[in-house]
Amino acid sequence: MAPSPEVLSSKNSDHVSQTCKDYSITPAQFEELRKRSVEAKSVAYCPYSNFRVGCALLTADDSIVTGANIENASYPVGTCAERVTIGKAVTEGHRGKFKVVAVATDISPPASPCGMCRQFIREFCDLTMPILMFDQNLDYVVLRLEDLLPLSFGPEHLQVERGS
Ligand code: THU
Repeated sequence: MAPSPEVLSSKNSDHVSQTCKDYSITPAQFEELRKRSVEAKSVAYCPYSNFRVGCALLTADDSIVTGANIENASYPVGTCAERVTIGKAVTEGHRGKFKVVAVATDISPPASPCGMCRQFIREFCDLTMPILMFDQNLDYVVLRLEDLLPLSFGPEHLQVERGS
């Protein structure tokens, strides 16, 4: 079994500066992603599970796009926060590779993106992109996409000419 990832604290400046160094982001970007992903939980539409998920992503041009999960009376139709947020970013015209995806939930230790979201994220970033996972207490786990989705399948495996 894979070892559990280390849970770090956003309140510990050593943890945050090490994370920023390891993943080439600034402390200001880290703090903004933490704040915006946590805030985004407040717009979750989750009357069935009551499980709020907020997401904030850092785009190629250093802007931040946020979103949350949207459920549906026909349960499988509901959409996770990560896919809502990426859909929003892509349809706002952000086509460059995303630099960071942050997710926030109300549980501890932090929840990680579901399998479908991992694959969805895979389309729009490098395998080394960090995914920040925040819990209810400002603690977090950070892993690269390739850690969450090893041996993955992506756009480069399709021998097709790409359009828009
Ligand atoms: N959820 C997300 O938004 N992201 C994930 O990666 C895991 C699950 C949502 C879907 C559903 O609205 C609720 O959490 C409970 O599964």
